[in-house]
Amino acid sequence: MGKDVIVACDFDRAAELFDFLDIFQEKKPFIKIGMELYNEEGSFIVRELKRRGHKIFLDLKIHDIPNTVKKTMMVLSRMEIDICDVHASGGIRMMEAALEGITRLDGKRPLLIGVTQLTSTDQEMLEEELLIRMPIDKVVMHYAQNVKKAGLDGIVCSPREAEAVHKKLGKRFITVTPGIRFADSEIGDQRRIMTPAQAKETGSNYIVVGRPITQAKDPLAAYQRCCDEFIDKPKKRTSK
Ligand code: C5P
Repeated sequence: MGKDVIVACDFDRAAELFDFLDIFQEKKPFIKIGMELYNEEGSFIVRELKRRGHKIFLDLKIHDIPNTVKKTMMVLSRMEIDICDVHASGGIRMMEAALEGITRLDGKRPLLIGVTQLTSTDQEMLEEELLIRMPIDKVVMHYAQNVKKAGLDGIVCSPREAEAVHKKLGKRFITVTPGIRFADSEIGDQRRIMTPAQAKETGSNYIVVGRPITQAKDPLAAYQRCCDEFIDKPKKRTSK
């Protein structure tokens, strides 16, 4: 299973993103493109980032009736993205339609994952605004089971939920976890957070980190810190 740091590049324009990416010389980070940038720049931004050698998580969190989702996914399947997602709250039939749509004629497709509950949602909001009167971890697990039933590859969830998800649904079921903050960084609007090192302990496959990197004084150092905390260093060979 892959393990990587995905940088959430929540910029409004391509020019800002390219300025930001200029600081990365050797390793080309895995990039998450969100709704703001995709709606502004369209498929150009995906093709350009692929040309520059980045892997891409296109985070459009699609949620609509199954037929519309399938057709949208067929459009996305023409791009060389690596991960894309739908809202698990759209239901199993919608997720199955998404899987059909994203699978190309040659059988190849990017990883398709389901968003369970946004990491900005807390228990109070779940109950008072969404009228879901269940513990949030139970809701996340139930959605995760639906995602697996629909045949998707994994889920987006809080790192706080990743360990339980792997226990219940297996190590091959991927967890992609936003809501990452360094011990000494601003929390902002996130609620269910962890540090990269804590996320590693939970078995999370990919951490998604935005502002702690993009708004850091030294974004390259912040990215490196995430990698150091989250990814195992390759073992040195000992010569006999
Ligand atoms: O800046 P920050 O690290 O909070 O960015 C987290 C990113 O992950 C944002 O792009 C946000 O849209 C995304 N995300 C999230 N919670 C989810 C799914 C995606 O925060 N459940």
